[in-house]
Amino acid sequence: MRGRFGLGAALAVSACALVVAACGGSSSSSSSSGGGGGSSSSSGGVTVTGAKVIDPSSMNSPPKGTIHYCQGKDTTGAGKAVVSEFNQKYAAQGYKVVLTEFPASADQQRAQFIQRQQAKSNDCDVFSSDVIWTAEFASQKWLYDMTPYVNQSRTKYIPAPLETVHYAGKYWGVPETSDAAFLFYRTDKGTAPPATWQAVYQQAAKQGGIVYQGAPYEGLTCDFLELGFAAGGQVLDSSGKKSAFNSPANVKALQLMVDGIKNGSAPKAVTTYMEPQTDQAWTSGKYGYMRNWTYAYAADQTGGSKVKGKYAVAPLPTFEGAGKAGILGGHNSVISVYTKNPGLALKYADFTASPEWQKISLEKYSSAAILNDTYDDPGVKKAIPYAAELKAALGQAKARPVSPVYPQISQAIYKNVNDALAGRVSPADAIKKASDQINSALSTF
Ligand code: GLC
Repeated sequence: MRGRFGLGAALAVSACALVVAACGGSSSSSSSSGGGGGSSSSSGGVTVTGAKVIDPSSMNSPPKGTIHYCQGKDTTGAGKAVVSEFNQKYAAQGYKVVLTEFPASADQQRAQFIQRQQAKSNDCDVFSSDVIWTAEFASQKWLYDMTPYVNQSRTKYIPAPLETVHYAGKYWGVPETSDAAFLFYRTDKGTAPPATWQAVYQQAAKQGGIVYQGAPYEGLTCDFLELGFAAGGQVLDSSGKKSAFNSPANVKALQLMVDGIKNGSAPKAVTTYMEPQTDQAWTSGKYGYMRNWTYAYAADQTGGSKVKGKYAVAPLPTFEGAGKAGILGGHNSVISVYTKNPGLALKYADFTASPEWQKISLEKYSSAAILNDTYDDPGVKKAIPYAAELKAALGQAKARPVSPVYPQISQAIYKNVNDALAGRVSPADAIKKASDQINSALSTF
């Protein structure tokens, strides 16, 4: 449990950081909201100058020592495992990595990292940075430019996750895990996964309900945009400088979610759920459906799970009369400019992206690998029956807007969407207010 002080402090830090980011001055972005998971540099014309550049050969024999790797709460054990694999492999050479766990909420992880970078601290030599933070952190000059390292073997990475570390023409980290969400459904209830979101909600009303991440934080932005984008909605217009959020498509998507809570297709408690609470609800065995990221496939079979062996995953459904959409998630190993041992930091980042770890990460923790080849591994295919669909989902998923003020854009979305889910405002008012707040955020840089 976080005490009041912890939460308040993190929020305050996050607000200052936003102002700093907003006033940084040098950056702007022209990426569109539904930029696709893929190809082009999303930061047309933006430059980040004066960054420290990593020397790829520094990882070959860095000074002996210990570095710290910071990531969100290790709910699956994958964080402890990757650190322990590395330490076993390199202990004899005098290298050690220590894991520092931040809270489960993406917003809180960001706040914790920002606090340390503003203090120029080397608490996090390597940080597991959410794909949405590259633009902001690079603009702040908090990250090593890792272009020379990434360029050594660019083709081994799946293009979509690689694009998430690409900003202003440079690579600011190494992809670590990619991410996509699925519809989890109960095979023991004898149902096929519904083809549309509307049908999911109808079925859920009869089969115990659907659970998802509806708390006011980054996860809700993802959960909402999956429906909003599928319905034909957008976040920003094609210039990337104005909100396009206030649309009938986005209102329709939110209306479906709000009605879902009103008519009992989803428990009202989802308005407080992040990923861990969603897993807790799902593994209680009470619910028919869950929206969650791929990690939950392995994670929710463990411990006291009452749904062990009783569920499967399906790609997210279409929005009736419109299309389908997934959101690209994931994390990158970024190296802090305040590290005292960049060579060892790179050695560790390199290990997290190695075929060796990527196989374990997908096979055992159902985390989306960032290397093309991992998906062809026979052990992986056996353990993760939807491995091919997972890889396809990464290629089709949409990126969230690329912008140094993305966190404010997202906050505008999740706060207002959460207000509507909790019944405090109508879907139309929530979408309009979010759109106005997105425009204010965009006008700050
Ligand atoms: C997952 C995704 C990440 C996303 C977060 C939201 O960790 O990988 O990209 O921002 O969930 O909760």
